Amino acid sequence: MEKADFIVDIGPGAGKHGGQIVTAATYDELISNDSMTTKYLKGEVKIKVPKIRRKGNGKKMSLLGATGHNLQNVDLHIPLGTFTCVTGVSGSGKSSLVNQTLYPILVAEIYNGVKKPLPYKKIKGIENIDKIIEIDQSPIGRTPRSNPATYTKVFDEIRSLFASLPEAQIRGYQAGRFSFNVKGGRCETCRGGGLKVVEMNFLPDVYVECETCNGKRYNYETLEVRYRGKSISDVLSMTIEEGAKFFVKIPKISRALETLNSVGLGYVQLGQSSTTLSGGEAQRVKLSSELSKRSTGNTMYILDEPSTGLHFEDIRVLLEVLQRLADEGNTVLVIEHNLDIIKVADHIIDVGPEGGKGGGKIIAEGTPEQIVKKFEKVSHTARYLKEELS
Ligand SMILES: Nc1ncnc2c1ncn2[C@@H]1O[C@H](COP(=O)(O)OP(=O)(O)O)[C@@H](O)[C@H]1O
Ligand SMILES: [Mg+2]
Ligand SMILES: [Zn+2]
Repeated sequence: MEKADFIVDIGPGAGKHGGQIVTAATYDELISNDSMTTKYLKGEVKIKVPKIRRKGNGKKMSLLGATGHNLQNVDLHIPLGTFTCVTGVSGSGKSSLVNQTLYPILVAEIYNGVKKPLPYKKIKGIENIDKIIEIDQSPIGRTPRSNPATYTKVFDEIRSLFASLPEAQIRGYQAGRFSFNVKGGRCETCRGGGLKVVEMNFLPDVYVECETCNGKRYNYETLEVRYRGKSISDVLSMTIEEGAKFFVKIPKISRALETLNSVGLGYVQLGQSSTTLSGGEAQRVKLSSELSKRSTGNTMYILDEPSTGLHFEDIRVLLEVLQRLADEGNTVLVIEHNLDIIKVADHIIDVGPEGGKGGGKIIAEGTPEQIVKKFEKVSHTARYLKEELS
């Protein structure tokens, strides 16, 4: 941003809280304004360096002798119960080590997965974790029918609630009646999609609102059943924020919606098609669904460059979630370049020193303070981190 000739800042928030040009100006003019972006640029809002680094639970996960791609017989030791960051320049071997060696080994052991890891000699400490979860920015579902409500399963609770209403009981409607995926309660013209595909010769398909249900996805009878005046279709059009307030008397539903709200998704509609969610939004839906599960305290979460595409403020929210997972005793393993994330980690594992053939080794390990103190000569990360910590 500092190097750009001109900056267009869009917001002020996200989703329906955004959509305006907040500032269009040079960097110096921008800075004199007040917005979420300038607050971070001016340092008025900052991600704080924690005073205490977690020591972990004393147990380790050790991957020995990794030699995939450019990895030079690497021994990786992850202190469990911490927030650990794997750093290093692009091409140094981080994804090869974590995503392509460690992750498939753990998936094979814990879930009988079949993806082959890159070559390695030995793995130790698997007995110390009971779940392994990778959280990336890929879509939460491949069809337009999946949405935040179905993915987090809160829609199951909402359908049960509708089926329990007197009006539904009199008519003999069960929860399935309120599904847009099966016959019965949905609009059959659009089969519950609310949209119809118009095939255009030589052009991409165009979607238009279904003229039978006007995009409401359900048939007339289903829409007559109302909870506090709202039909199941109205509920799908609510934002997560609105939904959390609307269902305040139904803890099972409001709690799940509060969790989605707490990861910064309050502005997203419950029924917003997953194919329209941004990568960062999909990532937060996945994290939210993890937060609402009963934590085993022995889960390992793996994230490869989760800050991609995120604003400073989004990173702050993301970090709160990751810290909560680690506070519950879980291990959070994050591959990152972003210094705001690196500086709050309990433990850093720096891969390098360079990319490709010049990399593939672990060149520095320790707390951020130790990295800065001991490895400034050998590690690029240490040099950049030094400015951040001072
Ligand atoms: N499928 C592959 N086949 C061969 N070389 C690869 C493959 N994937 C990555 N590499 C190489 O391995 C090195 C490390 O890559 P990677 O692990 O993706 O780095 P990082 O995640 O640190 O950016 C790079 O030199 C890259 O070009
Ligand atoms: Mg990578
Ligand atoms: Zn329809």
